[in-house]
Amino acid sequence: MRLGVLISGRGSNLEALLKAHAAGKLPAADFAVVVANDPQAPGLDIARAHGIQTAAIAHRGFPGGRQAHDAAVAHTLKEHGVEAVVLAGYMRIIGQAMLEAFPHRIVNIHPSLLPSFPGLHAQEQALAGGVRVSGCTVHFVDEGVDSGPIIVQKTVPVLDDDDAETLSARILVQEHLAIVEAVDLLSRGALRIENRRVRRME
Ligand code: GRF
Repeated sequence: MRLGVLISGRGSNLEALLKAHAAGKLPAADFAVVVANDPQAPGLDIARAHGIQTAAIAHRGFPGGRQAHDAAVAHTLKEHGVEAVVLAGYMRIIGQAMLEAFPHRIVNIHPSLLPSFPGLHAQEQALAGGVRVSGCTVHFVDEGVDSGPIIVQKTVPVLDDDDAETLSARILVQEHLAIVEAVDLLSRGALRIENRRVRRME
């Protein structure tokens, strides 16, 4: 399955995917292109180092605004023959053009146990909520924010002395496992959505 990965920054989840692929752990996945909404995103260098094509489509000052930018991203992905999309630290809301271009074919990683703590600063939200367990979620993207059907979750403890940095680091280790697991299932065609729940066909 030809995949496009969307990033905004560091790209450690992208790197986890590309390393797993290089190690033969994603046998059905083919990384067609990495697209960033920030031309300076360090993750673009990670893609290049792995020989993956890249595109930068800056959202700042994009003519036509948010919806036009979303449509341009969808167009670029289609140009590269992309069949499914992975949001790996992509800090933009997915619009109608993307949802229509890739119906039930966009997945996102989020650093909380959804449906708790959607949106920005999920780790800070978890600390403020006083939860003893947090983690990460890979889910299908729908019209809402971090609200689509859940594919994989991994948990971590929240420790008494945690701050946002220490909790984020503990969650990130699990993100890198979760995203590889979810993309493997997705690329092998092993996921079905039934009544907003994901069923694994294995
Ligand atoms: C991750 O914590 C991801 O869950 C969140 O943004 C961060 C991106 O990190 N949405 P990276 O760019 O993959 O290193």
